[in-house]
Amino acid sequence: MGQLAGQVALITGATGGVGSAIARLFAQEGAAVIVADIAAERVAEMATAIGAAGGAALGVVLDVTQASSCRQAVEAATAHFGKLTTLVNSAGILRTGHIDEMEERAWDEIMAVNVTGTFLATKYAVPAIKAAGGGAIVNLSSVSAFVGSESSFAYTATKGAVLSMTYGIAQELAPYHIRVNALCPGWVDAGFTHQALRTTEDPDQLLAVANSAHVLGRMAQPEEVAQAALFLASPSASFITGSPLFVDGGFMIKR
Ligand SMILES: NC(=O)c1ccc[n+]([C@@H]2O[C@H](COP(=O)([O-])OP(=O)(O)OC[C@H]3O[C@@H](n4cnc5c(N)ncnc54)[C@H](O)[C@@H]3O)[C@@H](O)[C@H]2O)c1
Repeated sequence: MGQLAGQVALITGATGGVGSAIARLFAQEGAAVIVADIAAERVAEMATAIGAAGGAALGVVLDVTQASSCRQAVEAATAHFGKLTTLVNSAGILRTGHIDEMEERAWDEIMAVNVTGTFLATKYAVPAIKAAGGGAIVNLSSVSAFVGSESSFAYTATKGAVLSMTYGIAQELAPYHIRVNALCPGWVDAGFTHQALRTTEDPDQLLAVANSAHVLGRMAQPEEVAQAALFLASPSASFITGSPLFVDGGFMIKR
């Protein structure tokens, strides 16, 4: 029997690099998954692929910045699978720029998706998870919640907010048997890193920086981040709540 047998998991950003690895692994481990993402064309494709591989999946087009969209995604999940036990907040965007150059619009966009989006998806998922008798929430934070980097202050601010929200929500939801934790990856060989590699003037140099940032000498594969999400969502993590879990190849301890 899979580690997530009996769980129904809503995964935001589920067609992205990290989110899709989590959706596939959760389905393999016996969860029914709701593949939720703003990328409408990829949502149906992913849900179909998971179904074809023997998993249970429902595709839902979701914009985490919109309360009504988050409410509808949760309604669709409970209507289709009868309950909701698990939420993974993986939807996110990257906006870079120095503090004295960044457009207010870019700041508003990244705050809306990464911070307000995490708030709204959680707000609407929590009553359903309470009704199921408990469950788990896994938020995608980052090592960026702890360290600064060139041109990334806005992203850093959003991932710090996600981590702080994790602590607060974990306190509130403990009496309802809902555990809330955060993953803090370093560089992942996935969406945001690929975006940065596409837009930089010197991709080889950036790749070398990304790999050497970790004591293990390489980036994470999205599947390695998914394994950590699986652990936090599973009964194996039954006494873990309000924790940041570093999936960072030693990024944080590198001198
Ligand atoms: N890639 C990395 O190096 C890295 C490192 C640490 C943490 N993370 C975190 O992991 C998460 C996923 O990152 P990724 O690299 O897979 O990026 P990605 O771009 O591949 O995935 C993000 C997904 O979010 C979706 N999305 C964007 N706006 C949305 C909205 N308004 N509503 C719903 N969905 C929306 C996108 O369509 C996309 O599928 C992010 O929260 C990111 O901060 C990534």
